[in-house]
Amino acid sequence: MPDKDIQIADSKGKLGVLIPGLGAVSTTFIAGVFAVLKGAAQPIGSLTQMGTIRLGKRTDKRSPLIKDFVPLADINDIVFGGWDIFEENCYESAVTSGVLKKELLDQVKDELTAIKPMKAVFDKNYVKKLDGPNVKTGDTKYDLAMQLIEEIKDFKQNNGLDRLVMVWCGSTEIFLQQTETHTTIEKFEEGLKNNSPDIAPSMIYAYAALKLGIPYANGAPNLTIDVPALVDLAKQNNVPVVGKDFKTGQTLMKTILAPGLKARLLGLSGWFSTNILGNRDGEVLDDPESFKTKEESKLSVLEYILQPEMYPELYGNIYHKVRINYYPPRGDNKEGWDNLDIFGWLGYPMQIKIDFLCRDSILAAPIVLDLVLFLDLAARSGMKGIQEWLSFYFKSPMCAPELYPEHDLFIQLKKLKNTLRHIMGEEPITHLGLEYYD
Ligand SMILES: NC(=O)c1ccc[n+]([C@@H]2O[C@H](COP(=O)([O-])OP(=O)(O)OC[C@H]3O[C@@H](n4cnc5c(N)ncnc54)[C@H](O)[C@@H]3O)[C@@H](O)[C@H]2O)c1
Repeated sequence: MPDKDIQIADSKGKLGVLIPGLGAVSTTFIAGVFAVLKGAAQPIGSLTQMGTIRLGKRTDKRSPLIKDFVPLADINDIVFGGWDIFEENCYESAVTSGVLKKELLDQVKDELTAIKPMKAVFDKNYVKKLDGPNVKTGDTKYDLAMQLIEEIKDFKQNNGLDRLVMVWCGSTEIFLQQTETHTTIEKFEEGLKNNSPDIAPSMIYAYAALKLGIPYANGAPNLTIDVPALVDLAKQNNVPVVGKDFKTGQTLMKTILAPGLKARLLGLSGWFSTNILGNRDGEVLDDPESFKTKEESKLSVLEYILQPEMYPELYGNIYHKVRINYYPPRGDNKEGWDNLDIFGWLGYPMQIKIDFLCRDSILAAPIVLDLVLFLDLAARSGMKGIQEWLSFYFKSPMCAPELYPEHDLFIQLKKLKNTLRHIMGEEPITHLGLEYYD
């Protein structure tokens, strides 16, 4: 049933967007928002800016733009800030990243140059391939968290902000698993004070955000907020959180194709994915420990979509392999190859080949914008803890501990739109449609 009682706080006022990691994805996102505001380009790929939503029956012909239906913050009201281990401002970083053309960047040069990274919370042990000079110092991880908290409060005050959202666009950290330190807020805080190795820098940013009531999205596959201590802190402070790992490129294609194969009960015996990319993300992922974090995130997708335990004859014996190869000449312009060995009627084999010449940050930037606006909406609507309805944007969607994650892109989209209908007091759409034939 739609909820007529949800009160949504006003979207007026300035919205601060805080980003740990001012690299390729974040500068492509920020430059894009400024370019859109100047009318120099279109926000292609963004559901909040270009998507529509059907309301009521098909015969009602009510399909407003999502941004006209739900009270989202206006992108004119966004103020950007962030941290990086390098001192380059956003213009310089965007040029280094090499995603956007100079002609476009020059149109937003002043705005980008004005965004200078704050000193990062960074520890090379968690990203082995990187090191940089723009880093905070402190005796304990708790000290670093307190420094971030003070910095964020100053940023809010100095920019006259009403609300904030934080989106992690920093590098992929080494693979971490949940330990005792992550089980409760108290143990986590003890860990911060004792410099526990179980607490990665991304968790320190998340902790600072959650303490201040700031919604947090995790664009990388890092464990970060996907632990009970931080989910509990989010619930305690009424903060929505979401993650992990933006769904772009090869995994996006996987979650488009796999549901189609399953819908038609076509079998799958193998799926081999490999790609070449030459940006800094590719360099970081060249380290086996960071790659392990990414690999876990990419591999889980097929299993959940295809449900081998329910269809053992079709999906019980899949060979699934994912490779990422750092290859500098390509920069951010990744090339991804997929080979699918499938089988049909009477077990006859077939193959599908995909060669996707994609641009990673071009696919990721609209996701960042949508997450900022939807998380801000969620916070204003009183939603807290894990926001499963935003799974649409992630390779490893977070969900309640007793659930398995939903990976099918089309189910994710229905869930997202039904959540918007729900919070606006509209009927969810089931697509049953029998009423048209009564
Ligand atoms: N581009 C995509 O399609 C895509 C998809 C899914 C996930 N991601 C993830 O998004 C993240 C960003 O990707 P990118 O292509 O922009 O990478 P990038 O290397 O260009 O940018 C990451 C930036 O984070 C900075 N950084 C690292 N650790 C930091 C810390 N502790 N604090 C502050 N800054 C820190 C680095 O110096 C770098 O400038 C990566 O984790 C990547 O795996 C990207």
